[in-house]
Amino acid sequence: MKLKIAQLPGDGIGPEVVAQAVKAIDAVCAKFGHEVEYTFAYVGACAIDRTGSAFPEETFKACLEADAVLFGAVGDPKYDNDPTAKVRPEQGLLAMRKQLGLYANLRPVETFKSLVHKSPLKEELVDGADFVCVRELTGGMYFGEKGRRDGGDTAFDTNLYHRFEVERILKQAYEIAMLRRKHLTVVDKANVLESSRLWRQIAQEMAPKYPEVTTDYMYVDNAAMKLITGPKFFDVLVTENTFGDILTDEASCVSGSMGLLASASIGERTGVFEPIHGSYPQAAGKNIANPLATILSAAMLFEYAFGMMEEGKAIRKAVAASIDAGVVTEDLADGGKAYSTSEVGDWVAAHI
Ligand code: IPM
Ligand code: MN
Repeated sequence: MKLKIAQLPGDGIGPEVVAQAVKAIDAVCAKFGHEVEYTFAYVGACAIDRTGSAFPEETFKACLEADAVLFGAVGDPKYDNDPTAKVRPEQGLLAMRKQLGLYANLRPVETFKSLVHKSPLKEELVDGADFVCVRELTGGMYFGEKGRRDGGDTAFDTNLYHRFEVERILKQAYEIAMLRRKHLTVVDKANVLESSRLWRQIAQEMAPKYPEVTTDYMYVDNAAMKLITGPKFFDVLVTENTFGDILTDEASCVSGSMGLLASASIGERTGVFEPIHGSYPQAAGKNIANPLATILSAAMLFEYAFGMMEEGKAIRKAVAASIDAGVVTEDLADGGKAYSTSEVGDWVAAHI
């Protein structure tokens, strides 16, 4: 099959880690007899520098014309401490999500046996934890009306959700739960927020349509606690945009390193596959960043964009082998030899 993949490396360590995932994709295509064609486009600070926009029209076009987007990260410290900046790299990511209709962000959290001791949590709590966070990605406070009043001294963000947005993300979460252990936890703040009460109402309407799935409801504060006191409780966790942003960073600690967490954003148009760790500017250009999250995102790309499960599995197997063999970057090296970003990428590609 011929695959058309748009590479959007973005900022910081994005280009380095995307390059390693590309090696893995090439290796998979060679192994399974697929032809792959790449296009490139700018997003984030590098796009602002070139065009003034964080998600230029030509980048949007490149995404639309591709079957899948492999994305690195956006962000640059020069914007972080300037609340008055009119254009920000993160807008590129938000515009991409909105314009591509990427309403479902899937963030799987798995543990690797040889790395459970790296988690800040007790080994026995995390060993065997395996769940997926399904985060709504194009609604809520991120996109609701926002602004300033009173000459700038009062600010507001609106947590707006429409029924159709809640229905489609819950449907996605139920479908994922059906393929897994059939346990869905709907996370909200229905004791306080009206938007959460709408989520819970719709979830209660939909639950009977999935009788095989056990649905439970958990307040977000309680879920934040449960993720560190008993992460094995979770199978599929679904929640709104802002809660999902916060909980998925927290959940990433379960697996021992944020450098391992992949994600898929899917919806109405081309899907985007990206590591969740962000641009990590301190490491940019040093060839030290962990490429495994991006390589695992490439596995999700095969699985979700093309339904190629064997191809995804080949990548996952090679990643697991690199961890077992200790061919890892400094964040996972544990006093042993720390391999460079490109060495890990080469090793994984060679083992596919
Ligand atoms: C994420 C990131 C983004 C978000 C930022 C970079 C806008 O933290 O993908 O989780 O808040 O969604
Ligand atoms: Mn985040």
